[in-house]
Amino acid sequence: MCRPDFFTVSYRINPWMHPEKPTDTLLAVRQWESLYRIYLDLGFDVRLIDPVDGLPDMVYAANGGFVIDNIAYGASFTYAQRQPEGPAYMDWFRANGFDVRVPENVNEGEGDFLLVGDTILAGTGFRSASNSHHELAEISGREVVTLELVNPSFYHLDTAIAVLDPQPGFVDPNIAYLPSAFDEAGLAVLRERFPDALLVNEEDATVLGLNSFSDGHNVVIASRAKDFERQLAERGYNPIGVDLSELLLGGGGVKCCTLELRR
Ligand code: ARG
Repeated sequence: MCRPDFFTVSYRINPWMHPEKPTDTLLAVRQWESLYRIYLDLGFDVRLIDPVDGLPDMVYAANGGFVIDNIAYGASFTYAQRQPEGPAYMDWFRANGFDVRVPENVNEGEGDFLLVGDTILAGTGFRSASNSHHELAEISGREVVTLELVNPSFYHLDTAIAVLDPQPGFVDPNIAYLPSAFDEAGLAVLRERFPDALLVNEEDATVLGLNSFSDGHNVVIASRAKDFERQLAERGYNPIGVDLSELLLGGGGVKCCTLELRR
């Protein structure tokens, strides 16, 4: 995770961002700390990367790369404003003993790559280029399934899909998703692979309810995503709500602030 010490909205690269609206960096830090504390209370070993002045989106650590089997596939950002984050995260991975692969293709890490069982669901359409999906398939030796995103408000796959059962080797892992974020081909793939998926409504998706973190039982979600919360509880998960309203001004939520380190 990356403390939002330099968080603000000074440019607009997604429809959530309004640079003319003021932001409250201290409130962002306080809200981020509540998420950090939830992870510590759940027993996670949370590592921190130093924030960099002038990189206000660095708090969205999920975009810093994709890590699997100790291999860190670096990010190469779509927009110039975020490009320096790629090398900053790769330096951190190297310093912390990961096998770093410098990307050849544009990709925004776990924003667009979601591990479900042994498969990686991969988003394209707004940020990550589809050739990065092939690159990651080669690097990881995993099946990578391309999904086209069609709604600019749900520009990263992790704003449109929540992985509920992330445990490796889990039989029939489930997900939750927002159907209208996908084209017909993508929907057909999701329906076929995840017949029991939770379908999340527009209202909950619009508070980035899907942008959540699950350990297979506890699911950390936006506290305003009430119907999603109800569905999770019905299926036996333990939803834990957190308010990241300030970070929503940058177009990110729980999952965006969280990069998973799979050794
Ligand atoms: N302002 C950031 C951007 O538009 C938000 C990134 C959100 N991260 C995510 N994993 N969806 O790039």
